[in-house]
Amino acid sequence: MSQQTTTDKATDGAPVVFRPEALAEYHEILTHYPERRAALGTVLWLAQREFGWISPAVEQYICELMELPPAWVEGVVSFYSMYHRRPMGRSHIQVCTNISCYLRGAEDIYGAVSKRLDIEAGEVTADGKFSLERVECLGSCGTAPMLQLNDRFHENLTVEQVVEMLGKLERGEKL
Ligand code: FES
Repeated sequence: MSQQTTTDKATDGAPVVFRPEALAEYHEILTHYPERRAALGTVLWLAQREFGWISPAVEQYICELMELPPAWVEGVVSFYSMYHRRPMGRSHIQVCTNISCYLRGAEDIYGAVSKRLDIEAGEVTADGKFSLERVECLGSCGTAPMLQLNDRFHENLTVEQVVEMLGKLERGEKL
């Protein structure tokens, strides 16, 4: 199927279309599923990585690409909180504050991130570099406290480690 192109006002009118590398990844993902619709969650994850969030234009693009009904795609996007329905920072930080993490200092971790970035949960820094969320258990209770930075877990954290991590990100260094 040829790639459909839509535009997205929310992303400065840039065309919503996978880069060739992402398109190749999309086709590779499909090989792991018995039918296309079963791959939807993984493809949406790929789309979020590519476009930063699942805007209406991204949703439409995925519908067309996968030949799935809009209601099906909308249902999955709206059900799972891991899909962002508004722009997030390039470094999206999700601090788990559920019970195991809470008991091992999650509030201190959250507070350190919030103070350093000067934002609260649900906010994005003015420069668009960071966003912050509190989240429920991410399934890594044995290594609490932890946070997720984009698609990677950072575990057994201390406040000092978090401050160092943010410093590196602010300087554009790789973690
Ligand atoms: S409570 Fe934080 S990962 Fe489970």
